[in-house]
Amino acid sequence: MPIESEISSIGLGTFAMGGADWKASWGPQDDETSIATICKALDSGINWIDTAPAYGLGVAETVVGNTLAGLAERPFVATKLGRCWNEKRKECEDSLRRLKTDVIDLYQVHWPIPDEGIEEAWSTVADLKQAGKLRYAGVSNFSVEQLKRCQPIMSIDTLQSPLSLLEPSLLDSIVPFCREQNIQVLAYSPMQKGLLLGKVTPAYVNSLPSDDHRKADPNFQEPHLGVINQQVQATQKLAQSQGLTLQQLVVAWVTSISGVTAAILGCRTPSQAEAAASCKSVTLDAETKAALENIFSITSSD
Ligand SMILES: NC(=O)c1ccc[n+]([C@@H]2O[C@H](COP(=O)([O-])OP(=O)(O)OC[C@H]3O[C@@H](n4cnc5c(N)ncnc54)[C@H](OP(=O)(O)O)[C@@H]3O)[C@@H](O)[C@H]2O)c1
Repeated sequence: MPIESEISSIGLGTFAMGGADWKASWGPQDDETSIATICKALDSGINWIDTAPAYGLGVAETVVGNTLAGLAERPFVATKLGRCWNEKRKECEDSLRRLKTDVIDLYQVHWPIPDEGIEEAWSTVADLKQAGKLRYAGVSNFSVEQLKRCQPIMSIDTLQSPLSLLEPSLLDSIVPFCREQNIQVLAYSPMQKGLLLGKVTPAYVNSLPSDDHRKADPNFQEPHLGVINQQVQATQKLAQSQGLTLQQLVVAWVTSISGVTAAILGCRTPSQAEAAASCKSVTLDAETKAALENIFSITSSD
């Protein structure tokens, strides 16, 4: 079965569920809230979860595994390898254990780092697939050249990369290449880590805990933040005119791009999960799409 017929157009992202005390932390996150968030997402019609051993160095995978262990039906789970520690086969075994499963639905090489190790990492993934440890195989944050280097070893099911109104560079060559090669694009950070939701003011940034990595992101600082918030205000007006929430509009821009199979929305509370699920069936007409791209000075995404 092709992967695109298995997963909903919105996936649940678990980066922030990694909690505090690691390099790319989003500040403290309570596991009980994470569990309630995952359950709410699944109850609301999101049928897949994206996680990684890197998120809290095993914390997010463990929370996902513990949540799913109590469910009658397991959703589709995507995880990753190669971002943190361990020899790669052991890394896979560790993920299987934390996720409490025998088979990973989608296994993705997290980053093309080091570049000279790409072929070795992809060959390991091919071996793991051959051994029945995973169903689909993908990569993340790879360039077209890096995708081409992997293809002779094994075909690539998915590419997970950043794509939002503030980060549209994937459209230049990567999305067209993936479309042509039948590689499904899974777009991450579609709300630019919250920046596109109209709530990120200087006061909000100040209120973030000191270990939230967004504090050091230049987009969360002036002068970028002021410019972004002007664009977001114009987007909010457009959303209102369409009877949509701001989130539904910015996410629909991502999911409406030809070649994008799904957007992964990071959520840390049940209400965020419910709002994420409400983005599932939103489509955009050509005029609204053009108006949005005009606000963000994007050359047409078609
Ligand atoms: N492959 C990779 O290298 C990679 C890299 C990054 C992300 N990802 C994946 O993609 C997922 C999504 O990306 P992301 O989490 O970076 O960014 P995102 O989805 O653009 O933003 C997520 C953040 O936005 C805020 N938010 C979400 N829904 C909201 C709502 N309804 N109202 C107000 N705020 C809301 C939450 O943060 P606050 O509540 O704290 O503001 C949340 O953590 C990740 O969780 C991860 O699974 C993959």
